[in-house]
Amino acid sequence: MNKVTTADFRRWKMEKRPITMLTAYDYSLARLVDEAGIDAILVGDSVGNVVLGYPNTLPVTMEEMLHHTRAVVRGVKRALVIGDMPFLSYQVSKEEAIRNAGRFLKEAGAEAVKLEGGEEIAPTVEALVKSGIPVMGHIGLTPQYVHQLGGYRVQGKEAAAARKLIRDAQALAEAGVFALVLECVPQEVAQEITASLPVPTIGIGAGPHCDGQVLVTHDLLGLYGGFTPKFVKRYANLVEEIKKALAAFREEVQNRVFPGPEHSFSMAPEEYRAFKE
Ligand code: KIV
Ligand code: NA
Repeated sequence: MNKVTTADFRRWKMEKRPITMLTAYDYSLARLVDEAGIDAILVGDSVGNVVLGYPNTLPVTMEEMLHHTRAVVRGVKRALVIGDMPFLSYQVSKEEAIRNAGRFLKEAGAEAVKLEGGEEIAPTVEALVKSGIPVMGHIGLTPQYVHQLGGYRVQGKEAAAARKLIRDAQALAEAGVFALVLECVPQEVAQEITASLPVPTIGIGAGPHCDGQVLVTHDLLGLYGGFTPKFVKRYANLVEEIKKALAAFREEVQNRVFPGPEHSFSMAPEEYRAFKE
């Protein structure tokens, strides 16, 4: 079982072998995702919404991302681990971007970083790649720009916006990204980008023509009680399972059913006699 590398991503695109990516934010789920044979694990800044209870991804800090990335790295043997750069950790200057991206590799053990944005951040991407840091791009619906986008909605539905996405993808590929996330774009646009790019596209809400697919693991497991977008397929409903288990524990304790003899420890009879003397 070889460790997945960014070189595998390019090869898999040429071989037309679909690439799988999922999120994880902690050791135990990262282990499960890795053992399921998923190719890449994204420590997404969606940790802000899903785990930390923020209203969006904007408040997430570098320290929070590094903390979760370390936990994930400890649980992974095969998958490529990608750290998601949080809001304002790469926008201020190329120097800050290199320092912060480098921390994911040096201090947390990630093997690549992901950052949001198109043509505008291509020079930053190029600086990171020149520094030896593999970069995954992310265009379309970029949640860190929610206040500019005016909400979470499909991007590139109009011809001019679609052409801008094509230019973004091209600029990022030229800047050296090893893969590109396409979030919430029409499938026609994703198909066009996928066909014209030398590096794989990983879609989320971007239709079936991408080179790979990514979802937030909590969404596909039904492990998140919040809003679930149209593009999510629920493969399980763990929220319901968890609710049942928690209610069962409460009832069994209240009715003195749990703990039973099988969950309890006892003294040897002679020790007990001595103890009670
Ligand atoms: O943070 C995240 O989970 C992401 C994926 C949805 C691509 O960026
Ligand atoms: Na993200």
